[in-house]
Amino acid sequence: MTIKTKKGDVGEWLYSKKVKQHFFNPVKFMKESEEKKFKADGIGQVGSSACGDVMKFWIKVDKSGKKIIDCRWRTYGCGSAIASTSVLAEMLTEKGGMTIEKALKIKPQDISNRLDGLPAIKVHCSVLGDQALRKAIEDYKKSSK
Ligand code: FES
Repeated sequence: MTIKTKKGDVGEWLYSKKVKQHFFNPVKFMKESEEKKFKADGIGQVGSSACGDVMKFWIKVDKSGKKIIDCRWRTYGCGSAIASTSVLAEMLTEKGGMTIEKALKIKPQDISNRLDGLPAIKVHCSVLGDQALRKAIEDYKKSSK
């Protein structure tokens, strides 16, 4: 189906194919039914003062205490927040997991690049997942002391 646009309409889909792919098939999204069974080692939550959105992130760390081996997330944010956090979760868990050290070096730009870009007005949404992940890592470090 083709939707005709006229002057003043929103116009075409502004997002890359990858954003669309992650938005419709989010990776590691925490379902409510899964929450009690997922034994997280760290949990982080942030809200964006810019738009009032909330992002929650759960991580599992391996026995060495150095590597994130699994994660989940949930948000009330927009499509960009969903796609950005989905791609972040993919980055963290591919190839058997990512070290905490490396995870802390992920920048919003890395997330945006992996999504083949985000509209400038939506870049702040990509920060939500990253911030919630950092809080989850802090939470893990506090509780494992
Ligand atoms: Fe608020 Fe994207 S998360 S507009």
